[in-house]
Amino acid sequence: MKVLVLASGQGSNFEALLRYARSYQTAYQIIGLVCDQPEAGALSIAKAHRVPVTLCVKDKDETKASYNQRLTRAIQDFAPELVVLAGFMRILGPDTVDAFKQRIINIHPSLLPAYPGLNAPEQALRGGASLTGCTVHIVDAQIDHGPVLAQSAVAIQPSDTPQLLHARIQTAEHQLFPSIVEKIARGEIKLDR
Ligand code: GRF
Repeated sequence: MKVLVLASGQGSNFEALLRYARSYQTAYQIIGLVCDQPEAGALSIAKAHRVPVTLCVKDKDETKASYNQRLTRAIQDFAPELVVLAGFMRILGPDTVDAFKQRIINIHPSLLPAYPGLNAPEQALRGGASLTGCTVHIVDAQIDHGPVLAQSAVAIQPSDTPQLLHARIQTAEHQLFPSIVEKIARGEIKLDR
């Protein structure tokens, strides 16, 4: 299965997907990275692993609609069978979601539907939760919403800061995400629902 990753940040999930594909005989293959941040760590990871990159940065004066069109085209150019959001910090427009209906998945650092949106680990700490984790879900038109495919729980420690907690959640993400992408590629998890 041809998998395209979209990322904006340090790219640790992107790297986990690449490493997993290199270590095992996976049914998925990372065919490219689309990134919207010229300084993102994900770009160096792509370079180190020789993964083709499209940088799709929003121009200052560009409308959302125009950017979304460019983004959709950038994704289409890779002809992916699965689009994986791994810390992509933009909300996909409805046209983008429609163009790849049931073929976009996301990872979020909470047990959705709890704590959608930004700073999920901090939200969990503020909310006094004793358990949080990460969720892999199908992307629909709403933020951090859509059918849940898998979750992994992480216990919150009294000494946790948002950074410490997020780091432990990310360790869980790096195990969960590649295994779920692999199950999708093998047809063990169906996205058409
Ligand atoms: C992850 O925690 C993911 O859940 C969230 O953004 C973060 C991306 O981290 N959507 P990285 O860039 O993969 O290290």
